[in-house]
Amino acid sequence: MNNNGLITLEQFIVDQESQYPDAKGALSKIFRAIELASKIVNRDVRKAGLVDILGSQGETNIQGEEQKKLDVIANNIFISAFSRSGEVCAVISEEEDEIHHLPKTENEKYIIAMDPLDGSSNIDVNASIGTIFSVYKRKSKSGTPTLDDCLQAGNQQVAAGYVIYGSSTMLIYTTGNGVNGFTLDDGIQEFCLSHRNIKTPEDGNFFSVNEGNLSDFPEGIVDYISYCKEKDKATNRPYSARYIGSMIADLHRNILKGGIFIYPPTTKAPNGKLRLMYECNPMSFVVEQAGGKAHTGECPVMDVETTALHQRVPVFVGSKNMVDKALAMHHATDKKS
Ligand code: AHG
Ligand code: MN
Ligand code: MN
Repeated sequence: MNNNGLITLEQFIVDQESQYPDAKGALSKIFRAIELASKIVNRDVRKAGLVDILGSQGETNIQGEEQKKLDVIANNIFISAFSRSGEVCAVISEEEDEIHHLPKTENEKYIIAMDPLDGSSNIDVNASIGTIFSVYKRKSKSGTPTLDDCLQAGNQQVAAGYVIYGSSTMLIYTTGNGVNGFTLDDGIQEFCLSHRNIKTPEDGNFFSVNEGNLSDFPEGIVDYISYCKEKDKATNRPYSARYIGSMIADLHRNILKGGIFIYPPTTKAPNGKLRLMYECNPMSFVVEQAGGKAHTGECPVMDVETTALHQRVPVFVGSKNMVDKALAMHHATDKKS
């Protein structure tokens, strides 16, 4: 703690790391990289309207999505920060088709999966966006990491979290020992502990799903959405609908206030839209560590066997009782058909 009673992220991580003798400062270095990169991205996001970094890069990524300029800028900022950390051998990024191998160092034990800017369709309209990250230990001991080193299940994550560039900028993370949130103090440019040991309510009042796709949803999901809208005093329904199209923003609200976020399978996209390695797994780790639940409809998100870098999975995530109810209704119609 410093003289003002503030606990900075850096101090917090050093204190926590004494509990992980195996980490030997490596995680501190990785978090220092995330912290620095997110401050730079935050600066760029804040002045996005003033300089020529809004809009499209004129290219598409491997998934055929238009890359926004800030997507590419954020990707480069995080990659160079990880590269300088000396602890990361490879990065899997939404914005890169293949594994991004970092220059060799002796200590390069970790692999990062990241979505450098999540919710990028919101960039041009000044709504909340974020960065999602996931940290793995490589499987092999040395040499160039292989695809097999990278394709690990979510239950192997060493740490995960996100930075939300919202009305304030926050960094939320877990190393498997609860979830803590830090708010960037603009004046001193430090992330300070603001949300200690975050717990998601078991029941909530928000449901977040893109109802524009309703006609493509499985029957049980349509039923669950109707259930959310029904009037019932005893269960506090109807719930409020909240969906901005930025997983980070929608889930951050639901983590703090209680709610469910669903990106279901659709007839057009049977595996949903969201990516396992750098969207669903890290957010699931945070949510589960906060006492919530994350499921694909078939198994816990973090138990999915990872077979491709840009693999997609359906996701039901948030307050435990809400996820259980949605899954029960989803499965009830599965059995009918
Ligand atoms: P990204 O901007 O990284 O491509 O991710 C956008 C994702 C996610 O953040 C959001 O929940 C979802 O796309 C919204 O998709 P729809 O517009 O289909 O609802
Ligand atoms: Mn995303
Ligand atoms: Mn993205």
